[in-house]
Amino acid sequence: MAPNKLFGVKSIESRAREFYNSEKTGRLRKFDHPVVKAHVTDKLNFIKKNIKFSKKTKVLEVGAGNGYFSYYLADFCDLLVTDINRETLLLNPVKKKMIADANKLPFKDDSFDVVMCFDVLHHVDNPEKVVKELNRVSRKYVILVEPNSENFIYTLIFLFIPREWGSIKFTTKYFKNLICGNNLKILKFKHVGRFTTPNIPLPFSLVKRFPYSSSPQLNFHNIAICEKIA
Ligand SMILES: C[S@@+](CC[C@H](N)C(=O)[O-])C[C@H]1O[C@@H](n2cnc3c(N)ncnc32)[C@H](O)[C@@H]1O
Repeated sequence: MAPNKLFGVKSIESRAREFYNSEKTGRLRKFDHPVVKAHVTDKLNFIKKNIKFSKKTKVLEVGAGNGYFSYYLADFCDLLVTDINRETLLLNPVKKKMIADANKLPFKDDSFDVVMCFDVLHHVDNPEKVVKELNRVSRKYVILVEPNSENFIYTLIFLFIPREWGSIKFTTKYFKNLICGNNLKILKFKHVGRFTTPNIPLPFSLVKRFPYSSSPQLNFHNIAICEKIA
C-alpha cells in the first residue's frame, strides 16, 4: 500500500515530492559546486574502473534530479535522464530529459546498456518495485547508490530531515538483499564517500583528510554495480 497519507502520516514518496517538486530544490548546491564534485567523483571513478563506456553506450539515469551525476555522465556516454518531479528536472543541465515515474518507466524491456539510479530508492514507498523496473529496462547493468545508514553521523543528521527517513532502513544487508532478491547479481560493492555528501553544511563536508577507511561506519554511501541475471 502506498497512500499519500496513512493515519495522517505522509508517505516517504510524498514527502520527497513536496520538496523536489517545489522551488526549495533550487536552494540545493549546484552540480558544479566543489563538494558536489567530490561526492560524485569517487563514485564515477569506481564505476568507470569496472565498466567500459563509449559515447555510444546508452545510459538511462532514473531520478536524476538537478543533475549532480548527469552533468558529469553526459561527458562519456549517450545519456537520457528522467525524474518524476518537474521542478528539480528543470535544473538538470542535460538536454535529453523527460518526466517519468521510476515505478513505471515508459520504456520497452532491455532498452538501455546501463541503468543508473542514485539516491532515489530511499525516497520511494516501494524500492523493490523500482529495482524491478530498473532491471526490466536494462540490457546488462544496473548501478545503484544509496545512503549507508550504518554511518551514525549520517543517520543522526537525517533523523532531523523527515524526507530522508526512508534511508534509515538502508543498511548494507538491506541494500544487498533488495538487489539480490530482484534478479540482479552484484558484481562490485563498495562503501564510498567518507565525509562528502552533497548538501550538509560546508565545514563538515570539508573534513576530507579523515584517515581512509573502507568500513561502513565511516562512509556515507553504498554503491553497487549489478548485472542482470538472464
Ligand atoms: C536525493 S535526490 C537524488 C537526485 C540525483 N539522483 C542525485 O544523485 O543527485 C532524489 C531524486 O529522486 C526523485 N524521485 C523521487 N521519487 C521518484 C520516482 N517515483 N520516480 C522518479 N524519480 C523520483 C526526486 O525527484 C529527486 O530528484
